[in-house]
Amino acid sequence: MTILDLIEKKKNKEELTKEEIQFFVDGVVSGEIKDYQTSAFLMAVVINSMTKEETFYLTEAMKYSGDVFDFSNIEGTTVDKHSTGGVGDSTTFVTMPILAALGFKVAKMSGRGLGFTGGTLDKLESFEGLNVYLSKDEFIKQVNELSIAICGQTGNICPADKILYALRDVTGTVDSIPLIASSIMSKKLAVSADILVLDVKTGDGALLKDISATKELAKLMVEMGKMAGKKVSAIITSMDEPLDNYIGNNLEVLGAMEVLSGADNELKTVAKALAVEILYQSGMSESKADEEIERVIHDGSALEIFKKMLIRQGAKSLEIKKPLIDGYEIKAEESGYVEKVHTRQLGKFVMSLGGGRMRKEDDIDHTVGLKVLKRVGDKVEKGDVVACLYANDNGALSRVDEVLSAFVIGRQKPQRTKLIVDKVR
Ligand code: URA
Repeated sequence: MTILDLIEKKKNKEELTKEEIQFFVDGVVSGEIKDYQTSAFLMAVVINSMTKEETFYLTEAMKYSGDVFDFSNIEGTTVDKHSTGGVGDSTTFVTMPILAALGFKVAKMSGRGLGFTGGTLDKLESFEGLNVYLSKDEFIKQVNELSIAICGQTGNICPADKILYALRDVTGTVDSIPLIASSIMSKKLAVSADILVLDVKTGDGALLKDISATKELAKLMVEMGKMAGKKVSAIITSMDEPLDNYIGNNLEVLGAMEVLSGADNELKTVAKALAVEILYQSGMSESKADEEIERVIHDGSALEIFKKMLIRQGAKSLEIKKPLIDGYEIKAEESGYVEKVHTRQLGKFVMSLGGGRMRKEDDIDHTVGLKVLKRVGDKVEKGDVVACLYANDNGALSRVDEVLSAFVIGRQKPQRTKLIVDKVR
């Protein structure tokens, strides 16, 4: 068997065997297969796709290319969630403390921001002193004692994916449903909780804008999880406007804490739907799940457990630092209804303020961002505040047009955004 045989086979739309896919992954990790051959293979997959079986073999081979964590030394039912990435998407800080307060064990390894979408680790580091790098033993001890730990990946998880993802990023081979599904699920299954819920985003601020492609991805990921013997389900949620009213690292943590303190908004709707999925997979009815979630929000136990986690992971204070420009009001220049919010544009704007990385090695400014005050369907009068700006550079004040132009104002009142588009179980 040679890599050339496999490239030819995929080029000719033939199905690869488990052994052939294992050969490919082994060769990528060992360096035996060269980048140009890997790239040719990936492009053949983008063009001719993969069957469900091929995708599963790829997922499994990538999963076992590095360390695999099993949580047998965590007592209780372990739970995890994954979002395909969005703008103002801080559901982790709402859903996971709720589940911990309900007695589940939250053993979550998260990532950093990718492009204009925020990352859980960057948001957590808004708190001075907070350590996201726990050793495996510290991680397990914290989950056993506190019921929740959210940290970066420890060990060498899915090295095959690291190599393939870096190549895909620079060879126009990211947008393949089998490649995305296997990339995400290999990492999720290598750190495998008992129950997993996936938040697959669709729309302007998502990896995939098209709903039918998003559904296909969600179904395939759920199938990969089930084929690996896991309880997994997905919800498809809209990214046609920022999920929370806040975009930016420390602002998003603040937004999540507001929901845990009782605020009722879009972030709560999606975060709750994710928690309901986990509870449903654990055997609870959806109506009971709803009740239980409300209980741990209203008695304060979910917020309490989140604060305990921040302190245990080293946060010196739970105060959020303020930037130089602290809430400059950006006002509408015309009246009408918000027809559309260019979510990606707002995400990129916050990224350009320093809220995300342009290059891998860039530092994050945790204090910058936007508060979004108008959503699709809202009435706007000229002079109303549509967003507030948080920045550390006065130059940002001359760029408010970039924020304003993300809000498309029209005459007709449009439908509100449907937040939960679909479910896959
Ligand atoms: N996130 C991943 O981890 N992998 C992909 O392929 C796309 C998004």
